[in-house]
Amino acid sequence: MFNLKRKKQQTVDTIDYENIPQHIGIIMDGNGRWAKRRGLPRSAGHAAGAKTLDKITRCAEKLGVRYVTVYAFSTENWKRPKDEVDSLMKLMVDYLDDYKRVLGGDNIRIRIVGRRDELSEEIIRKIDIVENATKDNDKITLVIALNYGGREELVSAARKIAEAVKSGRIAPEDIDEKMISDNIYTSFMPDPDFIIRPSGELRLSNFLLWQSAYSEFWFSDICWPDFTEADLHRAVIDFQKRNRRFGGV
Ligand code: IPE
Ligand code: IPE
Ligand code: MG
Repeated sequence: MFNLKRKKQQTVDTIDYENIPQHIGIIMDGNGRWAKRRGLPRSAGHAAGAKTLDKITRCAEKLGVRYVTVYAFSTENWKRPKDEVDSLMKLMVDYLDDYKRVLGGDNIRIRIVGRRDELSEEIIRKIDIVENATKDNDKITLVIALNYGGREELVSAARKIAEAVKSGRIAPEDIDEKMISDNIYTSFMPDPDFIIRPSGELRLSNFLLWQSAYSEFWFSDICWPDFTEADLHRAVIDFQKRNRRFGGV
């Protein structure tokens, strides 16, 4: 019954390829609950979530999306039990080792944003290798937010700008919105048009705070490992019905 309804909806609503969000942010949430429902360890949920990431990145590329930013590990996620944090970091290492097999042929550029300081030397080395190896890929950029927090990002930008003022390179009056945007981790890309959060939670959890000022939001109860191409299409069709005014009329 549910399937029939979903099918019908898809034939009525179709994607407008002239109005694809350039940049989609995704809060990949619900891995733990997905695993729990199946009687599996949380790490199995995270592994399943990584597979979903590959699939959804390819779907976004097919749609013509230019940037996908995914929240993989927040500055607050260090609060989790050590074995879960270790399994998430191990998954990240495997992902970085495996990117060629998983994403390599698809002309996908990979960038990692977030604070590097707490990350292991091994991960930092692998990040550099992958970012460098994919730097000429230009079809879609997959941005992985790792040890990322929107507040930490703004603190780090404020410090950089304060240093510039202290050294006399700029005056306090020179500080404007563009300067903040140029000094945060995501300076190389436009703000997200659209932010998707599965898992049923209705919050940002410190994701892209500055950048999401005028983003459209889409929430769903689906846990991230269950997220499908049809869900992405449904979300994009909803996005296309929004009237983005940016404060105007
Ligand atoms: C998201 O899934 C992945 C990370 C935060 C690293 P969760 O692990 O938060 O899954 P739930 O929210 O407990 O279901
Ligand atoms: C946000 O999810 C972080 C990631 C998806 C990486 P959380 O599961 O950490 O967020 P809260 O704790 O439910 O707000
Ligand atoms: Mg969660």
